[in-house]
Amino acid sequence: MALREIRILGDELLRKKSREVTEINDKIRETLSDMQETMLKNDGVGIAAPQIGILKRMIVVMKTEKEILKLINPEIVEMSGEAVDYEGCLSVKKKSVKVKRPTKIKVRAQDEYGNKLEFVAEDFFARVICHEVDHLEGILIVDKEV
Ligand code: NI
Repeated sequence: MALREIRILGDELLRKKSREVTEINDKIRETLSDMQETMLKNDGVGIAAPQIGILKRMIVVMKTEKEILKLINPEIVEMSGEAVDYEGCLSVKKKSVKVKRPTKIKVRAQDEYGNKLEFVAEDFFARVICHEVDHLEGILIVDKEV
């Protein structure tokens, strides 16, 4: 595992759309481990691959202090509810932004071994996933300030 440098607002790479992961291999698993380490080291609750300079559809999200999910090709297939709350981002230093998010989402993804996952996330965890999936589209919280 290795710590990676986090790209900061203004870096053009953060604005690009990430590509689907078509082959899940050791390199992908190593990148996900690096993402996790980098997230934890920076006290984040989520991180997306573009934030470490990799334009692939991968995110790491903290569900609880003890449960961290590594998601490949995550898709939000259903959403409902609506709530506005403050969010921070490892790429947007020292700024919290109010963002509107769904309160309940259904997510489809693959895990780091290619197993298919489908689950429902609510409230804060749903917010974290929506935030990270936005990164895969080149969208940052500053675009969504309400
Ligand atoms: Ni972020």
